[in-house]
Amino acid sequence: MPTERTSIHGQWSNRLAFILAATGSAVGLGNIWKFPYIAGENGGGAFVLVYLLCIAVIGIPIMMAEVMLGRRGRQSPINTMRTLAYEEKVSPAWRWLGWAGVLAGFLILSYYSVIAGWALAYVFRAGSGLFTGLTADGVQSIFSNLVDEPERLLAWHTIFMVMTMIIVGRGVRSGLERAVRLLMPALFVLLLVLVGYAWNTDAFDQGLEFLFTPDFGAITANGVLIAMGHAFFTLSLGMGAIMVYGSYLPDNASIAKTSVTVSLMDTTVALLAGMAIFPIVFANGLEPGAGPGLIFQTLPIAFGHMDGGAFFGMLFFLLLVFAAWTSAISLIEPAVAWLVENHGMSRIYAAALAGMVTWGTGLLTVFSFNLWADFKPLGMFAVFEGYTIFDLLDYLTANIMLPLGGLLIAVFAAWQMRRESSVEELAMGDGFLYGLWRMLVRYITPVAVIIVFLHAIGVL
Ligand code: TRP
Repeated sequence: MPTERTSIHGQWSNRLAFILAATGSAVGLGNIWKFPYIAGENGGGAFVLVYLLCIAVIGIPIMMAEVMLGRRGRQSPINTMRTLAYEEKVSPAWRWLGWAGVLAGFLILSYYSVIAGWALAYVFRAGSGLFTGLTADGVQSIFSNLVDEPERLLAWHTIFMVMTMIIVGRGVRSGLERAVRLLMPALFVLLLVLVGYAWNTDAFDQGLEFLFTPDFGAITANGVLIAMGHAFFTLSLGMGAIMVYGSYLPDNASIAKTSVTVSLMDTTVALLAGMAIFPIVFANGLEPGAGPGLIFQTLPIAFGHMDGGAFFGMLFFLLLVFAAWTSAISLIEPAVAWLVENHGMSRIYAAALAGMVTWGTGLLTVFSFNLWADFKPLGMFAVFEGYTIFDLLDYLTANIMLPLGGLLIAVFAAWQMRRESSVEELAMGDGFLYGLWRMLVRYITPVAVIIVFLHAIGVL
């Protein structure tokens, strides 16, 4: 029963357009801001290895499953799950998976936008030549000056949310495709320039060793959970973002090839970011576990010491903002698509409404870095010692909601959906590769997620 459905929101022009959009969603703050700082906090090499393993064994198969469900349903994740559950004659309760995704997207975007605001602020700080000749201390005080001021953070957060809602309101397709095509390669080149700078510091080897030599003594069960959660986060999996993008994918595009391509590009960007940042960390006697401010306290040193640093620095943060922008729109798109489908709202109105709710929630993160910096709501639990509200939001979404969402997507795709449906939608035949995918999604992914969860809560 091939579906004749089309999406009311339009379709990507071709497979390349989808790859660009999905890469735009995947490559973002997760790769450049988050990956280095959590790798630093969790001891480096072993963490990176677990993360890479999770991308290969869990991330890619789940991405295929998510794209597949989206393309088959051709609606917002909530309605896609409802339709597919009906067609596959399984419980209508599966639509709640769509709802959980919408909630996760809201929560993630609420803090994502605040951090993107930092990047936005740094465009101007870099461009004005503020970093020229600065030492580690100087760079650190510039960072504190920014995050200590709630009004300042709020202003940047507001600007970034407005930027996001404008694009979402206009429809994900217009303008986005072309922009990603140009700016993603530019970001890539600038990262190479930064790796080049790092190469010339005397700590390049030390940085690479930190990143690529696994020391299993340095990682904890919670670290493994964080690595797995990040595999979901960085690939935009587990909350319907890739599902909704899949719903705009043309029928004849290969889901397997696109998923592998997007995952490879995403991973490359993260590793390059790590290779640029850690040598600078060690060359300047900084702390790899410095936390969320890591890139904002390291890269400016590089820009402050290279020829044309003001220009390159400005360009880098501009491209980072752009990468964050193309990710942010995918976090809110499932909610907006649903508002349009079920409440007949115009896209603009739906975007404004969703944006306002997210903006308000973002205040929790804004204050986590200043007024409430000492408020550690779950500090009585050892794992959450020192966690601010922002840290908790990040932990809850990336390490719990996304893996759980991914687990349920796997269960639906491989246990609830009839085999013929997935054979048909993936359109890769019913041979070895299909069998491998099905085996991974049916057994390996769910079991891996459950084991990591049980370890992290100390049951195993
Ligand atoms: N993947 C993006 C990043 O690495 C963030 C992101 C966009 C995301 N859409 C998502 C994370 C959906 C989880 C789910 O920056």
